[in-house]
Amino acid sequence: MKNKVFIPVLSLATVLLLVFSCHTEKRITETGLVTQKAMTVSAHPLASEVGTAIMQRGGNAVDAAIAVHMALAVVYPQAGNIGGGGFFVIREKDGIYHSLDFREKSPLLSDRDMFLDEEGKPLPEKSQNGHLAAGVPGAVDGMVKAYEKFGSLPWEELIQPAIELAENGFVLTSEEADYFTRVSQNLKKYSTVDPVQFSGKSWHQGDTLIQNQLASTLKRIRDFGRDGFYKGPVAEFILAEMERGNGIITQEDLDTYESSWRQPLLGSYKQYDIITMGPPSSGGIILLQMLGILENYKVSNRGKKYADYLHLKTEMERRIYADRAEYMADADYYPVPVEQLLDKDYLAERFADFDPKRATPSDGINAGSVLALSEETTHFSIVDPLGNAVACTTTLNGGMGSKVVVDGAGFILNNEMDDFSIKPGFPNMFGVLGGEANKIEPGKRMLSSMTPTIIEKDGKLFMVVGTPGGSTIPTSVFQTVVNVIEFDMGMQEAVNEERFHSQWKPDVISYEKEFSELKILDDLKKRGHVLNERSAIGRVDGILMRDDGSMEGGADTRGMDTAVGF
Ligand code: DON
Repeated sequence: MKNKVFIPVLSLATVLLLVFSCHTEKRITETGLVTQKAMTVSAHPLASEVGTAIMQRGGNAVDAAIAVHMALAVVYPQAGNIGGGGFFVIREKDGIYHSLDFREKSPLLSDRDMFLDEEGKPLPEKSQNGHLAAGVPGAVDGMVKAYEKFGSLPWEELIQPAIELAENGFVLTSEEADYFTRVSQNLKKYSTVDPVQFSGKSWHQGDTLIQNQLASTLKRIRDFGRDGFYKGPVAEFILAEMERGNGIITQEDLDTYESSWRQPLLGSYKQYDIITMGPPSSGGIILLQMLGILENYKVSNRGKKYADYLHLKTEMERRIYADRAEYMADADYYPVPVEQLLDKDYLAERFADFDPKRATPSDGINAGSVLALSEETTHFSIVDPLGNAVACTTTLNGGMGSKVVVDGAGFILNNEMDDFSIKPGFPNMFGVLGGEANKIEPGKRMLSSMTPTIIEKDGKLFMVVGTPGGSTIPTSVFQTVVNVIEFDMGMQEAVNEERFHSQWKPDVISYEKEFSELKILDDLKKRGHVLNERSAIGRVDGILMRDDGSMEGGADTRGMDTAVGF
């Protein structure tokens, strides 16, 4: 599927634009698509085509990011969204940085114990599925805010491709057909009105998915901007859905939701400068903590030294994810000690008991804490012809979020409330623990792991990178960065490379099923690690700037991720 030529069902004008403006090339070796001027790498070929077509028309990277975000809400509804939220990290061509936080917020009627029964027992079924699981969506406000600051093409032109994809439909691959067939029962179960656009049939390769209600919602967003979603008929559909499903999102939540421009989190590693996402994400802090420790070691991906590296990485992860559980949360509500967590002396002290030969036990393994297998967040990376770059990770949280399709409006609500700590010490769907810092409070944002990241080398744009994967996100970004910087891989090669993940608790190293170097696994076991085979970890999509001024896309073959550029 990767980089395959794909004829989307779009208006004639858009088709012509795509045919004449973008070329997709087949990947022959482990080098990804290489282009000279601009590139979009996203989870879906149609969304990547949309982003690059926008830049071909003179739009900048933020214009393209808005159009891609909207297109993904249509063609990748399992994670692309208008009913969820995410983060943009932006680097302007002259090296000015921004980050936009359009993460969902806890409804004003929420409270700390809302997912506990009378005996104080956690109710993860409720924090993960159905109306109460939804935070107040931030995506539309985020796109409008980004547009107000950076938009250059008319707003309507950025939303129109998504409208056409929803109205005319798009043709499903066999994987997509299987996926929609699999989730349709759950969508029916948790929505108050059967969302027949998804659930009316079992899906087959070659079927066309048409989403008319979603098209109408997108038209309102096109015509009325923020008010097209947070007010008027779409808001009424959301409130009616809440009423029918005993949800708690109110008009006041919709009126008061605001995305926020925040200082991006900055750090460095050797001659590289890292621009990444700070709180309410833990991702940037974790990435910088790991790079901060790594700087003191020489690592290699060859032979036994590779096991040394994986052991080192795991030992960092167990300490850092313990920090995550204790100290990381929405900094508007809790004083996250970012500087201390990144302080070199602190990191050295934290790692003082590191034993290169033995695993340090994480205090027993948590029963029942298995890592979720869904990878249903989504990341895209964009570079425009001027050299502006956007890294965006956006999500509904789990696949199809709360599984509630808002009747009349046709979009899916997130289940982001599960990213709060619903009870201290009780793991969320990614098996990560939290405590007081990340407790539920009205209006607060739930702690994220999303790590959209931009890297400069010697002051110039070097890499744009990110991934879905819940708690595995920061460690997958870390590995990809290390693959390029330390192991001299190109972007595609770095993305293809197998991934490992560990997170303090449960005290295991997860590795991808396809990994075949049994000697490495044996070596890790001998050091006292418990290994856990699982399905693919993450879907990393990145762009690497090359010395000759061209750029290479790395589109993750674990999904249908595709690079398109010119
Ligand atoms: O914000 C977070 O960290 C999670 N809601 C991300 C969820 C995710 O990546 C799902 N895919 N595995």
